[in-house]
Amino acid sequence: MTFPIERVRSAFPALAITDGGEARIYLDNPAGTQVPQHVVDAISSCLIGSNANLGGYFPTSLAAGSVVDDAHQAMADFLGARSADEIIIGANMTSLTFHLARSICRDFKPGDEILLTRMDHEGNVAPWLTIAEDLGLVVKWLPFDTETWQVEPDALEAALSDRTRLIALNYASNLTGSINDVKALTAMAKAAGALVFIDAVQLAPHRSIDVQDIGCDFLACSSYKFFGPHLGIIWGSTEVLRNLPAYKCRCVGEELMGKFETGTPQIELLAGLTATVDYYAWLGKQIGGDGSRRAQILAAFDAAHAYERPLAGQLIEGLLSIPDVTIHGITNLNRIDHRVPTVSFSYNGHKPAFVSKALSDQNIFIWDGHNYALEVVRQLGIPEDEGIVRIGIAHYNTEDEVDRALECLAAIGK
Ligand SMILES: Cc1ncc(COP(=O)(O)O)c(C=O)c1O
Repeated sequence: MTFPIERVRSAFPALAITDGGEARIYLDNPAGTQVPQHVVDAISSCLIGSNANLGGYFPTSLAAGSVVDDAHQAMADFLGARSADEIIIGANMTSLTFHLARSICRDFKPGDEILLTRMDHEGNVAPWLTIAEDLGLVVKWLPFDTETWQVEPDALEAALSDRTRLIALNYASNLTGSINDVKALTAMAKAAGALVFIDAVQLAPHRSIDVQDIGCDFLACSSYKFFGPHLGIIWGSTEVLRNLPAYKCRCVGEELMGKFETGTPQIELLAGLTATVDYYAWLGKQIGGDGSRRAQILAAFDAAHAYERPLAGQLIEGLLSIPDVTIHGITNLNRIDHRVPTVSFSYNGHKPAFVSKALSDQNIFIWDGHNYALEVVRQLGIPEDEGIVRIGIAHYNTEDEVDRALECLAAIGK
């Protein structure tokens, strides 16, 4: 079944906006995506019809309670969780990780070891570095391999010890785009008795996630990267969450849902979050997916991945054909399934900010800088104050948009 790109595009009102007659080309997706009208409507109708705090007997409060429950269930379906109780929703991935790191590491002892990677975004580095400093933990770093662009099992094997308490690992890099074999790495870390915290922020817009299959303890994502509102979500396994102490108000109970969510939730955004998951279910139905919401989500991801794959190939081949461009990540198209379509590169002779601005001048939105992948640029020896140029495809982009970006990039060198 062909991907219904026209129907998809018409679901996103932002894609039709022009500036001075010039269409907007959104290739800034790794930092945030546009949202379907249905998500906008869910947020505004929540603010109109369900706008109250939680716990009352009146209709607006009861409706707000349902909004919160529904969002947790939606994310449980999205991530393949066993129950909505395993879902923690908050402002964004980084804040939630800082918050949860305190609970996760509370009983760690000075000299206990945590493993971080050189491939991760600061959101999965700084919270652990901070708590390590507070508690006297030892931080060990796993490099990524610059041939495979992944964290290799050998590197993990060498770093594990009987003091390893936790590994914080990304599913896909927000700079190189490469995907780690998180299932295999999780199995190794679990066998050594460590907890596994996975940052799936960059993977979540592109591939389906099955937390039970991975076997990790925690997995984080952010819905504004997958066509939703600005929220962060952490899944934690029931067994681990139940035993974790929570930093919470005294009047909040020990029931899992809410235990790690401090204060009043962003209720209207949670309404948008459910609508975001339902967007995937809608997409799944468009391409013949059937059955439960989870089944439709999986069908949507299969179709979106099949649609994105050639676009990623077109982008990579196009970039490789421009003299002076060096891609930092997988370029072998036989290995394209080991990456998400987030492609970073240097353009010899042209500063990243110059390239990014040149494309912005043509209404093509892309990024430059280190994009918070500080450790990645350090390992690659790229100047931190300059970073790279980054183009990221989402499943609402088209071949014409990728061509247009490539033309503009080629023109810079002429
Ligand atoms: C891989 C990765 N992890 C974490 C984050 C941080 O997410 P948030 O903005 O929700 O804190 C980002 C944001 O770009 C990211 O790309």
